[in-house]
Parts: sequence; C-alpha cells; structure tokens
Amino acid sequence: MVQEIKNGVLYFDGCNTVELAKKYKTPLYVMSETDIVSRFRELNECFVKKYGNARVAYASKAFCTLAMYKICEREGTCIDVVSGGELYTAIKAGFPAERIEFNGNNKLPSEIEDAVDYGIGRIIIDGLQELSLIEKICAQKGKKVKVLYRVTPGVAADSHDYIVTGKKDSKFGIPLDEDVFYPEVERAIKSEYVDFLGLHFHVGSQLFDNSAHLQALDIILEHVKEIKRRFGFVCTELNLGGGFGVKYTNEERKPYSYFIDPMMAKIKAAYEEMGEPMPAAVIEPGRSIVAEAGMNLYTIGSIKDIKGVRKYVSIDGGMTDNIRPALYSAKYEGVVANKADVKVSDKVTICGKCCESGDILIRDCLIPEGTEAGDLFAIFSTGAYGYAMASNYNNNPIPAVVLVKDGESNLIVKHQSYEDIIHNNLIPDYLK
Ligand code: LLP
Repeated sequence: MVQEIKNGVLYFDGCNTVELAKKYKTPLYVMSETDIVSRFRELNECFVKKYGNARVAYASKAFCTLAMYKICEREGTCIDVVSGGELYTAIKAGFPAERIEFNGNNKLPSEIEDAVDYGIGRIIIDGLQELSLIEKICAQKGKKVKVLYRVTPGVAADSHDYIVTGKKDSKFGIPLDEDVFYPEVERAIKSEYVDFLGLHFHVGSQLFDNSAHLQALDIILEHVKEIKRRFGFVCTELNLGGGFGVKYTNEERKPYSYFIDPMMAKIKAAYEEMGEPMPAAVIEPGRSIVAEAGMNLYTIGSIKDIKGVRKYVSIDGGMTDNIRPALYSAKYEGVVANKADVKVSDKVTICGKCCESGDILIRDCLIPEGTEAGDLFAIFSTGAYGYAMASNYNNNPIPAVVLVKDGESNLIVKHQSYEDIIHNNLIPDYLK
C-alpha cells in the first residue's frame, strides 16, 4: 500500500506529504513509482510471461512525461502515442522507436512523416484515408511500416458516454461494414509500402465488466477468420486496447487477468480452429497503470459556510489541474493530509480557485471539524488524465510533478511560471 498515516500525517510511497508540500509547494502532482511499477509487473506476470507472444503498450495519453517514458523503457514495455507531441516526448526521452505504436483518428501528414522517419513500431490505421497517406509518405521516403487496422466492433461498453469508443457511432475506427472493411483490408494486404499485421479495437475506458471486451473480440475473431477465407491472409497480431477500470472512490478494481484470460482463451480457440499459431496479443492500458499512482496535494484557502446550504472549502488548484470532475462528473476522495487521523464529521464541498461555478473537485466530502486555511488537502487516484489534461485557464500555472519512491522524491516536471504561460504571446507593433 503506497498510502499510510504516521503521526497523523499522510505518507505516499514513503514520503511525508507535509514535507513534500513544503519542499515543492502546492498545488502539486505526486506520482508513486512503486505503484506504477507494480502494475507493469502484474501485467508482466499475468500477460507477457504467461502467454509469451504478448506485449503491453502503455497508453501514454494517461500520463505523458519524459520520466514516465524512462520508466516504461526500463520496465520493457511498449508505448502507445496519439500525437506528434507524445511521439516527440518519447523520442526525446530516448524511448526505442520500434517499441512505439501510433494511434489516432486524424493523424496529420507531418505526424506520419515523423513516425516513419523515426522508424516507429506500428501505425494503427484509424480512418479510410490513412492508408493512402501512409503509402504516399513511405513511397517518398523509401520506407515500409507495420500497420494494424483499428475497427469499431459496434459494442456498447458501460461507461461515461465521452469515453465509450467501441460503438458504431464513434469517430474512432474503421466500420466493419462488408463493403468498406474487406476492400480496405485487401488494399493493405497487397500494399508494397505497409506490412499489414492485424486488427485493433478499444471499446472504452474505466470498465469493470469484461463483456464489452469479449463481445468485441468475438466480432473481431469472426473477421479474422473471414480475412483468411477471402484472402488467405492470417492476422498475426491483435491489439485488444485498454480500458481496465480503477478505484477512484468505492469501485472494486478487477485484476488484469479477469479481462485478459478469457480474451486469450477466445483467441486460442479461434486460431486453433483456423489451424494457425497464436498471434501476438497486445493490450494498451493507460489509466490502470497510473491512476492510483497519483495524488494531488493542495493548500486549503478560503472557506465559505452558507448556513443550511453548503460549506465550500477552496483549494489552490482546481479544474485546471483536474478537469475530470467538471468534464465527466468524475468522483474522487480526499483527506486533510496533515490531520489524516482526526475524525471526519464536517461535510463540505472541495472547490477550486477558477472563475467557473463548475470548478468543484469533490462534492460532499467529509473532513475534520476545525479544518482551516493552511491545511493540506490530498486527493487520491489522480494519476491518469489529470496532469495530461491540465490547462492554463485563468492563466493558472500547471503544477509541478514529483515522482516519489520509498521515501525519496524527485521533481520530474517543474512548476510552470507566469513567464512560461505568456512565453508564446506576442504584441503586434500597432498595439505597442
Ligand atoms: N487505447 C486506445 C486506442 C484508447 O483510445 C485509449 C483511451 C486507451 C488505449 C487507454 O484507455 P485506458 O486504459 O486509459 O482506459 N480522458 C478520459 C479517458 C479517455 C480515454 C481515451 N482513450 C478520462 O479522463 O476518463
């Protein structure tokens, strides 16, 4: 357990949160390396080692920094990137290009050029114009890339509408319609500029039930068989996406094997039926690697008690460092970190400092009576899509990120300064 309470103070991966706040200032993102690594090691046991021809491609959109890519490199994982910016960051971190897989529904020509130049491992084609674009770029550069097709299996996963991606009405993936899908696959099989390997699906995010994954896989495997029947081509790689749910409040996290084992059994059965060896299996977890490894630390400021209505407790960050409550009504839990063993009985609303009524991080949070300005507030499970989705709304600086491990802490992203925020601003001569 990376969280513990000692002498009334919350510790995270062996670090005293009050000391962290003093040293690095708040608001602050704290990431536990121990927790991140334990997820990768779990996957290594229950997926990579257990099944052999299997890889983890960390979906780096969840938390993308140079240090995170270094951890991935050290742990031997692949990564999934979805933009030129993520690709650039990974390459800057020295991440091996052949272990990078590129997703995205509108990859720009310049992004594909970069990907081809760096020699990345896979491009996951996610649109009907993309193959031609890749072919054109590869022809110009005299290179060839490995590709998969991301398809929309047409299943509805049980999650927030904004993060459900496998249903037919989605901007992601190639539709599986007869007259669209097979001609597209045939083109890729015959192309001299790409090595077509297989299919990719991602049904959604923050899922606790494996049925969407399994339904999607059934559909994908039928198409794999049909591809063999029609073209004599056997898909040698299947990417099963990510989406494995994590604990924010009272959710019960499922072990990875709950999703992986039945999927692998289905793949085995289908490939045995075809008389073919097992394909490579890839998963793309993002949230489940980093969410619970993150904690946000804030200093409490103004407190507004509207008698009989609500008590607002403001912290020095908000929707700029964690947009998820405002965007998805996401729920979080937190504690007053310097009073972590005091009985909680005061029901309050934890709100941010942005000029926006919806800037509320936790509704109805229980904190100790007598909590006051200057106390430290910690919010749990903020490691995924927190820093990654941070903004400069109200020209608030994006907080620093500290990596903690066994009582040691290291800054991995510096606090933005006001100067950083206006760095790219220009004043036209006539306004000077
Ligand atoms: N692979 C693909 C192709 C994806 O689109 C995604 C997430 C993942 C993998 C990783 O899914 P995960 O394991 O993290 O669930 N900003 C939203 C989540 C958006 C997820 C988008 N795609 C949030 O904060 O909930």
